[in-house]
Amino acid sequence: MSRTNGYRGVSRAAAAKHYDVSDDFFRIWLGPSLAYASALWDGEDDTLEKAQLRKTDYLLGQAGVRQGSRVLDVGCGYGGEMQRMVADYDVESVMGITLSEASVAWTRNLAIPRVDVRCENWADHRPAHPYDAILCVEAMEHFARPGMSGRAKVRGYREFFTRAREWLAPEGRLVVQTITWGHRFPMDLDLLRGLYLASQVYPECNPSYLGELQAASDGLFDLVAVRNDFDHYGRTLQCWLANLESDYDRAVELVGRRRTDDFRTCMTTAVRVFEEGWFYLHRLTFRPVPRPVGPARRFLVNNVIGRDSLPTPKLLHRRPGAI
Ligand SMILES: C[S@@+](CC[C@H](N)C(=O)[O-])C[C@H]1O[C@@H](n2cnc3c(N)ncnc32)[C@H](O)[C@@H]1O
Repeated sequence: MSRTNGYRGVSRAAAAKHYDVSDDFFRIWLGPSLAYASALWDGEDDTLEKAQLRKTDYLLGQAGVRQGSRVLDVGCGYGGEMQRMVADYDVESVMGITLSEASVAWTRNLAIPRVDVRCENWADHRPAHPYDAILCVEAMEHFARPGMSGRAKVRGYREFFTRAREWLAPEGRLVVQTITWGHRFPMDLDLLRGLYLASQVYPECNPSYLGELQAASDGLFDLVAVRNDFDHYGRTLQCWLANLESDYDRAVELVGRRRTDDFRTCMTTAVRVFEEGWFYLHRLTFRPVPRPVGPARRFLVNNVIGRDSLPTPKLLHRRPGAI
């Protein structure tokens, strides 16, 4: 049973509708890495596979993953990050959680040593030991649904940050890669149509604003590194789209023409959406604060320290030692 009081994120049914369709269909356009997240590109001659690996290494580096680390991967997908950690970072253990039965079956089948994978909502997770690092790669988009108020979103994210902080060792790191709402919202009918379709293809998803994540993590984590690589998502999506086009007939065989076309339209829209800055792609590194600070500190900062005239000037101007 969950301890959360607020929204628990996307339902199992909605997650299954998107993810539990056909592993082979995803493989056609995601490529052999099966990484369902933006890559990190470097130079004109780069390839999707290299850029995905660079992304993984960047995130693992930010999270401080090293030999002997114990890691939690929230929204582990098909397990690319977990494979890399075991093969190249010699971690002690990785716990991967996801809402997709299909990716659990896929990852279990890989039988990666020192990896445990479960179909579990983070809200239900009970760690057996503290983690040295927590990754959350493009799962946060599922932690709020369309129509939620900013306040309700922040409440839900704060629950996640609270839990993540409890689960981390004091020197641990939380690394989040997530799509966030960007700086533009042009009233363009084609794009709005594409976004509406995306809300059907990715049901119950609503990205955050960076400010919401900052508010939700305030007093629990210090946000120590921020990257915004939205142009990298545009390029990633162009590769996915080209992959889908080149094996379109097989994709149709696997999931039907309607679904294939819906994914194609969503990706075409998304290329534009990222290139034009409707959406951002944030890679965020959080370090736990030593002792969480709550509303009392904010009250002090907003109402006492920042005021023009301090409420007790006499006290502040008194000479040391004077009574
Ligand atoms: C876009 S996929 C990204 C997968 C993987 N991180 C990658 O980079 O390929 C999002 C993942 O988040 C998972 N997810 C979404 N909400 C979740 C939740 N509340 N608890 C655990 N996993 C969740 C989904 O099941 C899916 O595996």
